Amino acid sequence: MIIDPSEIFDNKVFVLNKTPIIETIDTGPAKVTVIDNFYEYIDGVIAQIPKMPVSLVWDQEGNNETFFDGRKVYRSNMEGSLIPYAFDHTLPNLVSNIIDFPVDRIRSSKEFIVNCFTFTDEFDSVFETHWYGPHRDRHDYGPTSTGMIAIVVFLNEHYEEGEGMNFYDVPDDFVLTIRERKDKVKQIYTVQGKKNRAVLFDSQFPHGQHTPTNQFKNEMRYTQVIFVPLY
Ligand SMILES: [Fe+2]
Repeated sequence: MIIDPSEIFDNKVFVLNKTPIIETIDTGPAKVTVIDNFYEYIDGVIAQIPKMPVSLVWDQEGNNETFFDGRKVYRSNMEGSLIPYAFDHTLPNLVSNIIDFPVDRIRSSKEFIVNCFTFTDEFDSVFETHWYGPHRDRHDYGPTSTGMIAIVVFLNEHYEEGEGMNFYDVPDDFVLTIRERKDKVKQIYTVQGKKNRAVLFDSQFPHGQHTPTNQFKNEMRYTQVIFVPLY
């Protein structure tokens, strides 16, 4: 055999747990749903990550060159990359139940999209005064799409206290940039990172990573993103 079987991306491990623990929190501007025990075979999912390439894509002014991002499959900023098929057909049912929306108007991305980040000491001064990376997810599923749900899945083995993701309360017309001053953009909710925990929310709800410790200077931070367009 030319290919080592252990190197093959196993797209059969992406099976959702049939009995996840679901909690929805009303943060004020929007709801956030935390789903624990998201995958049935989380170690199998995590085992696929090293089989994917990691690329430096955010090489822009105001950023850090040692900042990596493995978003190979975002249409606009990672060209020419392959898309492993990774999908559980029951996902629209799960989303339908959580957001109370007709299942036949729910689609889901079928790619395995993993954000990969690591930080250097130079970021310490940034984090003192700024949030890093608050954003709304781009919505490019065509004119008939009426909205989009985003699901973020924590894929590290362990998260130090405080590591996770933030949600922010900003006016709809506020254009967010890669760094926003803490005294201008209000953090209203934080979800603690946890292996096999997923976070579901309206993709237009401003959100971003929360990395207050040194953990991700020493290891890569992995989060899967699943986009679920609504029609
Ligand atoms: Fe996002």
